[in-house]
Amino acid sequence: MEKRVLLIVSGGIAAVKSPQLIRGLKDKGIASRCILTRGGARFVTPLALAALSGQKVYEDLFSLNDDNEMGHIELSRSADLIVVAPATAHILARMATGLADDLASTALLATDKPVMVVPAMNVRMWQHPATQLNIETLRARGVIVVGPEQGEMACGEFGFGRLSEPEDIIRAIEDFYSPASLPLGGKRALVTSGPTLEAIDPVRYIANRSSGKQGHAIAAALAELGAETTLVSGPVNEPDPVGVAVIHVQSARDMLKACENVLPTDIAVCAAAVSDWRSAEQAPSKMKKNGSAPPALELALNPDILATLSAASNKRPTLVIGFAAETNDLIAHASKKRSAKGCDWIIANDVSPASGTFGGDDNTVHLISADGVEDWPKMSKLAVARKLAERIAHSLDQQQ
Ligand code: C5P
Repeated sequence: MEKRVLLIVSGGIAAVKSPQLIRGLKDKGIASRCILTRGGARFVTPLALAALSGQKVYEDLFSLNDDNEMGHIELSRSADLIVVAPATAHILARMATGLADDLASTALLATDKPVMVVPAMNVRMWQHPATQLNIETLRARGVIVVGPEQGEMACGEFGFGRLSEPEDIIRAIEDFYSPASLPLGGKRALVTSGPTLEAIDPVRYIANRSSGKQGHAIAAALAELGAETTLVSGPVNEPDPVGVAVIHVQSARDMLKACENVLPTDIAVCAAAVSDWRSAEQAPSKMKKNGSAPPALELALNPDILATLSAASNKRPTLVIGFAAETNDLIAHASKKRSAKGCDWIIANDVSPASGTFGGDDNTVHLISADGVEDWPKMSKLAVARKLAERIAHSLDQQQ
């Protein structure tokens, strides 16, 4: 099967490296078709890109002149991967906000394919909070970010902002095609996320405030490191992470069934806020207000998914990780939970109202394992996810 990349070359001096990138990809059996932005065309000619790629170079959103040309939708889906290299601060901002004001940004908005960006810009532009926020937004959506590198820049300044070398970009693209070379390549992972929703009757339910942000970020981070990842999620507003198989469920019992069907896996991370109880009975039709006395709600205990996976006799994942959300005596409660549930690690997090963890973007966690307690500094939920994925890869590596 031919590997095909849609290469978007945006404006910036680093665009002069794109011919080298196209040639290097071709040597590895990866074909490229290019979109050149107006800014990009100031640094590299469409003729050079066309000659090297052996394909028409697309520049204009409204240039469908003959039958051989593709519309932006078709173009955006004609490849396995879209690579934006170099990616300027401007195109990153347009991607983050969903602008579609030229062919490149329109194709990026219309695509259903994975996207990789290779930023290149002045160090201050890279460090600007606006750019950093845009990059975080894109990462959260599953965009693969390569670089930038540190070094001397064309503008004479020094710092982060240099385009990654073409051979490093090519390696990242090869990793995309063969995740076996990644730290979790060949491993299978299961992640639970979000709340569960327990029906009382067809219109009412019991649920909780879990946003699913942390669980979804963990699934994305494991997939980024090459794990074949399945996310079993309760109802959330988070988009499905790119490159992750997602099973949507409602109740705890459905979540458990879905998880058991995914086994065997090497890794299980239970980040879902599973409802401890459900209504003992689900009324088949909407319960009516009969008189003034409210009905008594009888509760039944839900299955404990984390404990069940930890005890799965022949299919137990090598590494089972749970979360402990506590409002007080965090470490003591979480350590007790680790042994009670039979899991390997517990990620303990403070969910007292003052911490802002629920629904927020940051998390302060502690990793509790058989080796003791490790305090992690406050960081974004994305950073927690990436650090955890790396720790998982390291731990599985040690066990081999
Ligand atoms: O018991 P508690 O809800 O505090 O434990 C939290 C951990 O257990 C989380 O990892 C959560 O995903 C998991 N859990 C579960 N099934 C339940 C309750 C909690 O998997 N019914």
